[in-house]
Amino acid sequence: MTNKYRVVVVGMGKRGMHHALAFRANERFEVAGVCDLDKERLSAAAAKFGGVAGTDAFQVASSVKPDVFCFCTLPRLRSEMIRIAIEAGARLIAFEKPVALNSREGMEVKKLLAASGVKAVVSHQHRYGQHYQKVKEIVASGALGRIHTVYGTASGWMMHMLSHLIDYMRWYNGESKAEWVMGQAAGSGKFYDLHPSPDYVAGFIQFTNGVRGIVECGAGAPDVPEVDYWWRKCRIGAQGTDGFAEVLTGGGWRAVTKAGASSGPGCMNYDLDMPPYIEDIANWLDDDRKVHPCNFDSAYEGFEIMMALCRSVLDGGQVPLPLLDTMDEVQNLSARLAGRRVLLSSSVNAKEYLPAKTTSEPTLVR
Ligand SMILES: NC(=O)c1ccc[n+]([C@@H]2O[C@H](COP(=O)([O-])OP(=O)(O)OC[C@H]3O[C@@H](n4cnc5c(N)ncnc54)[C@H](O)[C@@H]3O)[C@@H](O)[C@H]2O)c1
Repeated sequence: MTNKYRVVVVGMGKRGMHHALAFRANERFEVAGVCDLDKERLSAAAAKFGGVAGTDAFQVASSVKPDVFCFCTLPRLRSEMIRIAIEAGARLIAFEKPVALNSREGMEVKKLLAASGVKAVVSHQHRYGQHYQKVKEIVASGALGRIHTVYGTASGWMMHMLSHLIDYMRWYNGESKAEWVMGQAAGSGKFYDLHPSPDYVAGFIQFTNGVRGIVECGAGAPDVPEVDYWWRKCRIGAQGTDGFAEVLTGGGWRAVTKAGASSGPGCMNYDLDMPPYIEDIANWLDDDRKVHPCNFDSAYEGFEIMMALCRSVLDGGQVPLPLLDTMDEVQNLSARLAGRRVLLSSSVNAKEYLPAKTTSEPTLVR
């Protein structure tokens, strides 16, 4: 074994801790620096991981000069951290979904990465779940015949969950790019959240390989009654000429093919998903040909689909991809939907989706 890759982790909340623990558990990496604005979190992380500790990401990164700069701050912060990582000489940046909150920021991140040549991965680590992988295996085996539709639903809201859904739909669809999307959205309650989103967004995706994508995310998405844990009420699957296969984030997988019906276990689990996600970072650093499955370019394709769905709500009709200009989609959507209540698909969503704070009059129901 040669030298270990040195890692700085910024944002020592839930996901920062997951990342730092997984880096530390992998013999290819050394956690050489940690950073958080919150002093308590920082000192807890410093005690756990050692190395350089500080509240200023630029200072920690400049002092450590890491191979890997990992940041797990909230979604508002993206290009600033990417700049810090590039300036500190990182060879790979690992960051959390969503890619950004709007296309202005997303395109800036893309430009910075392209100009620097620094590798980047975005944490869509559900891909490593055994049930997610089983569905991929069934699709790839040809047992479903010609795939014509991929779909995804989640009860959680857009900036939390849509990034995941689209990523796995694209994966099941051979990472195809999209040609156009068309969407709708409702409800303004979650624009106040740290993951600002419409309460409900739904839409269609025309992939360049002719496959149709159908996606629903939030308060109006159908319940996944097979799954109890609310955040894991996600259903993602593929239908083909000979059958279908789907994964439930908290409830295993199932398939019906010409050979009959089958199903199996699996539940999203950070402890199981993070180690191979982190191992693939070492593999990509070792060898340019071993591109990480959660590479930025792939995540960006999904991000553009999400932003195009928002633009379709704003402008109406179909939105062609790739996007050629920038805007603040979420800001514009929040203005458009201000004060509008969402109608729930199921009482299981009532706890999460309260009426918007600004609602002064009931929505007109025709
Ligand atoms: N991939 C997944 O399965 C998954 C799951 C949950 C959350 N996430 C994503 O992870 C990200 C973080 O979520 P979380 O739940 O860990 O949040 P969190 O609030 O638990 O942690 C964020 C931390 O970042 C710190 N921070 C904020 N700004 C900072 C700055 N400028 N410098 C240093 N530290 C800073 C905060 O003090 C906080 O400790 C979000 O983008 C979220 O969408 C991903």
